[in-house]
Amino acid sequence: MARNKLLCTGAAGFAGAHVVRHLMTNTDWDIIGLDRLSYAGSLERLAEWQGNPRLKMVFHDFRAAYPTSVLRALEGVRYIIHNGAETHVERSIHDPESFVMSNVVGTMNTLEAARALQVGHFIYVSTDEVHGPAPSGVDFTEDSPIRPSNPYSASKAGGEALAFAWSRCYRVPVTITRTMNLIGERQHPEKFVPMCIRQVLHEHKVAIHGRRECNDKWTVGSRKWIHARNQADALLFLLRSQDGKDKAAAARVAHGETYHVAGEERSNLEIAHFIAKTLEKKLDYEMVDIHADRPGHDLRYSLSDESIKSLGWNPPVAFEESLRRCIEWSVRPENLRWLEG
Ligand SMILES: NC(=O)c1ccc[n+]([C@@H]2O[C@H](COP(=O)([O-])OP(=O)(O)OC[C@H]3O[C@@H](n4cnc5c(N)ncnc54)[C@H](O)[C@@H]3O)[C@@H](O)[C@H]2O)c1
Repeated sequence: MARNKLLCTGAAGFAGAHVVRHLMTNTDWDIIGLDRLSYAGSLERLAEWQGNPRLKMVFHDFRAAYPTSVLRALEGVRYIIHNGAETHVERSIHDPESFVMSNVVGTMNTLEAARALQVGHFIYVSTDEVHGPAPSGVDFTEDSPIRPSNPYSASKAGGEALAFAWSRCYRVPVTITRTMNLIGERQHPEKFVPMCIRQVLHEHKVAIHGRRECNDKWTVGSRKWIHARNQADALLFLLRSQDGKDKAAAARVAHGETYHVAGEERSNLEIAHFIAKTLEKKLDYEMVDIHADRPGHDLRYSLSDESIKSLGWNPPVAFEESLRRCIEWSVRPENLRWLEG
């Protein structure tokens, strides 16, 4: 019997490469990675699989429709994880059009490819940020309102709406996941964790986002965090629930559904302290008012992951253990270049 074939878009980006690594290690599936290799993509993330006949790369910019040559290369694909996107909030504020083109138009083009390929399952990887800021003590559920604060999260919400419509209108078997902040090895150094590791390592000041209250006290920015390997495990769990082997799970994971993949809540300052402690350095930081300094950035994000947990999924590696391993990996001499970009 032919092996399952899966397409992962954005495969040479940070999270996509973790998805590829997880599937190469934990399944016997053939994997096709698709990417345009923007500044955020690097084939070095997949270097260990180079020459492995189970992994093929296809280069395409999905702002354009998938041409026949690409569709031909994707023949036999059974599952799609649509993970590729423009992802940096600050860049989206300066260049919203690129985000709408890649994240909205690009999602439509990928859904159209899914329709042409008649895939069995399409997962659209979305973000906690589509809900906008979460008030203290509130964990948004899958049905909470969508109120994005910036062009990045708005474009991801636009992609979600298309995925949902394609599932209803064209019966593309879609599942949407919304994930909290990802951590992990080989993340682009513009993101908070690698930036913080670099600053602490060089004994430079770390900027911690928060809000200065009228009594001059600070409310520190806070999120839930999860390792990209754990997210990849959740995606595999959702795909496997539909592979026909577990009928009960198949009945529970309905197409057109959304699942939150959360993690553990920590403030940015707690993450910075954890990094400094792991590296045995003193933390030097300054608080920065995000509203004054960076409008469009939210103070707190938080999702409830009760739905996916009720299906039986739990993150395989505990948060602090995965963060500690990521910090230790990042400061090994051979890996330091990932902190510099
Ligand atoms: N990083 C996080 O904390 C986080 C949290 C929640 C959800 N997500 C979602 O996970 C996905 C991956 O995030 P990431 O952090 O790995 O991003 P990333 O920026 O590291 O990688 C994105 C990849 O997509 C590719 N890409 C972008 N536009 C493309 C286009 N038009 N055509 C083809 N390829 C294109 C880039 O070249 C890059 O390789 C995104 O959909 C993001 O919204 C990320």
